[in-house]
Amino acid sequence: MADGIISRITGPVVVASGLEGAQMFDVVRIGDMGLVGEIIRLEGSKATIQVYEDTTGLRPGEKVTNTKRPLSMQLGPGLLTSIYDGIQRPLDVLREQSGDFISRGKVIPALDQTKKWDFVPLKKKGDTVSPGEIIGEVQETPLIMHKIMVPHNVEGQLSEISEGKFTVNEIVATVQNSVKTDIGLSSWWTVRTPRPVLRKLPPEEPLLTGQRVLDTFFPVAKGGTAAIPGPFGSGKTVTQQQLAKWADSNVIVYVGCGERGNEMTEVLSTFPKLEDPKSKRPLMERTILVANTSNMPVAAREASIYTGITMGEYYRDMGYGVALMADSTSRWAEALREISGRLEEMPGEEGYPAYLGRRLAEFYERGGKAIVISPEERVGSLTLVGAVSPPGGDFSEPVSQNTLRVTRVFWALDASLASRRHFPSINWLTSYSLYADGMGDWYKKNVAAEWIALRKEALEILQRESELQEIVQLVGYDALPEPEKGVLDTARAIREDYLQQSAYDDVDTYTSIRKQFLMLEAIIEFGKMETEAIKKGIPSTKIGSLESRKMISKIKWTKEDQVEQLVKDFKSKMQQEFNSLLVEVTH
Ligand SMILES: Nc1ncnc2c1ncn2[C@@H]1O[C@H](COP(=O)(O)OP(=O)(O)OP(=O)(O)O)[C@@H](O)[C@H]1O
Ligand SMILES: [Mg+2]
Repeated sequence: MADGIISRITGPVVVASGLEGAQMFDVVRIGDMGLVGEIIRLEGSKATIQVYEDTTGLRPGEKVTNTKRPLSMQLGPGLLTSIYDGIQRPLDVLREQSGDFISRGKVIPALDQTKKWDFVPLKKKGDTVSPGEIIGEVQETPLIMHKIMVPHNVEGQLSEISEGKFTVNEIVATVQNSVKTDIGLSSWWTVRTPRPVLRKLPPEEPLLTGQRVLDTFFPVAKGGTAAIPGPFGSGKTVTQQQLAKWADSNVIVYVGCGERGNEMTEVLSTFPKLEDPKSKRPLMERTILVANTSNMPVAAREASIYTGITMGEYYRDMGYGVALMADSTSRWAEALREISGRLEEMPGEEGYPAYLGRRLAEFYERGGKAIVISPEERVGSLTLVGAVSPPGGDFSEPVSQNTLRVTRVFWALDASLASRRHFPSINWLTSYSLYADGMGDWYKKNVAAEWIALRKEALEILQRESELQEIVQLVGYDALPEPEKGVLDTARAIREDYLQQSAYDDVDTYTSIRKQFLMLEAIIEFGKMETEAIKKGIPSTKIGSLESRKMISKIKWTKEDQVEQLVKDFKSKMQQEFNSLLVEVTH
C-alpha cells in the first residue's frame, strides 16, 4: 500500500494520486501537518478526499498516508459529559493543547486514556455469552450505568473475566470459542454504518416532554422522528433545549451543527450549567454534546451528525431511551452542498446534491425503538429531532421538503406567532403528528379514557376559530352571533392558558401529562358550560368576567402538587357561578 501525492486542493477537498489499494471511506492523513481526511471518491489510485481540518497552507506534492480504516469512533465510558467536535475530538482537550486556535493534524483520543473505571462483572468465568450480552457495568456518571456488552459477532464461553479498576483500553474479559476474543471497556465503530438491531418495534409510547403543545397535540413517540422547521429567531433552539432538559429519556445527544458561531458558544456555556430536573444533578451527566461552529471546516460538520447518531445508537444498545437533537440540519445540508460543489457533481434543486433526500432519509432511519441485539431481548430507543432553518422561513425549499418526507412529526414554527410573543410558536393548524393515533391505548391506560376525545375537541375548536376569524375580518366581531363568540372564548383559553408556555418560568417550563389533562379538561368543561349558558340567553361578556374563568388562567402557574386542589375548587366555583347566572336570567 503506497502513500499518495496531493495533486489538487480546492478548499476542503483534496485530490491525491498514487493511493494504491485504497478503499472508499478510508481515513487518510494529509500533508506534512497530517490533517485528517476521508476518501469520498475513488478512481483507480486517484482519490478525492474531504478534509476535516482547515487546508490553508497545504501544497500539491505533499504526501497522503492511508490509515486503512474508515472513519470510526471509540465507544466506552467517558462519552457522557463530553463535548466533541465533528470527528469526536474533545473540544476542551483540543483547547487546552492549542489555545483557542485549534491546531491542526492533532490526534486526540475521544476518551480519557488514563482514567481508571470501576468494572463490576455480572458474569463469571465459564458462563456462556452471546452477542450483545451485558457482561458487566461501569458507573459512568451518577446518573448513568454504562453496560459493557459482548460484540455483535462474538459468542462462546468466558475464559476470563476480571473485576476492579481499568482504563478504556484494558481488557476485562475474554471469550473463548474456536477463536479467542478480548473484550475491553471500549470498542470501535465506523460512524457511517448504522449499529444493527434485532427487530424494530412499533412506536406506541409517547416521549413526554412536558411541553403542552407537543405532548397534547403533536406528540413524538419514543424512537420516533420529528422535524422543527422555523424561520430565524422563531424558537428552534429554545425548543430543542427544552427537549434536552425535560424529555423523558435517559441519555441526550445534542448535535450543534454549524449554527452561528456565537450561538454555539451559547450552547457550550449554557449546557454545562443546566440541571437535570429530576436528579438535580448536572444535565451533562447524561448528555453528550457535538459542537461544530460555522467557522469549523464544512467536512467536519458533515460528519458530525454521524458521530452523534453513532453514540446515540450505542446507548440505545445498552437498553436506554436516547434522544438526539440536531440543530440545525440545514447547516449540515449546506456542508453537503459545498462539498458536492467542490466535487463538481451535477447539482440538484437549489444547488443541493441529488442525494440530499437519500442522506436525510438514511439519517432518520437510524432512529427507532427496537429490540437490540441481546439474549434477553433488551429494548432501547433512539428518538431523532432535527431543526431545519429554511431561508426566509419558506418550507418549500429542499431541506424542509426532504425532511418532511421522512419524519413523522412536524412542529411548524411560525414567525408571526413568535412576533406576537406566542411561545412556543408552534402553529397548531399546520403541525401534525402521525404517531398520535397509534398511541391511543397508551393514553387510555396512562392518562385518561377521555384523553383522545378531549384532544380532538380542542383541536376542532382551534380549527373553528381560524374559520371564524375570517368572518370577523369581514363583518367585525360585534356582528358575530353569541354562540360563535363562545367558541372564540374557548379557543382563546386554549391558546393563551394552555398552548402558550414559558420556557423561563420555574413552574410553567414543565407540565406533567396529568396536569395537562386537568388543564385541558377544565378549559373544555368551561367551554361547554358557556355554550349551554349562551343557549339560555346569557351574554358571553358576562361569562368572560366570571371568577372561575380567571381561575383557568392560574392553573399553568400552579405547582404540580397543588393543581388537583385548584382544579377541584375551580369546578365547584364554576358550577356555582353558572347556576347563579341561570337564576338571574330565569327571574
Ligand atoms: N418556549 C419559549 N418560551 C419563552 N421564550 C421563547 C420560547 N421559545 C423561544 N423564545 C424566545 O424566542 C427567542 C428566539 O428563540 P431561538 O433562539 O430558539 O430561535 P431560533 O429559531 O433557534 O433562531 P435562529 O434561527 O437564530 O437559530 C428566544 O431568545 C426567546 O426569547
Ligand atoms: Mg437557533
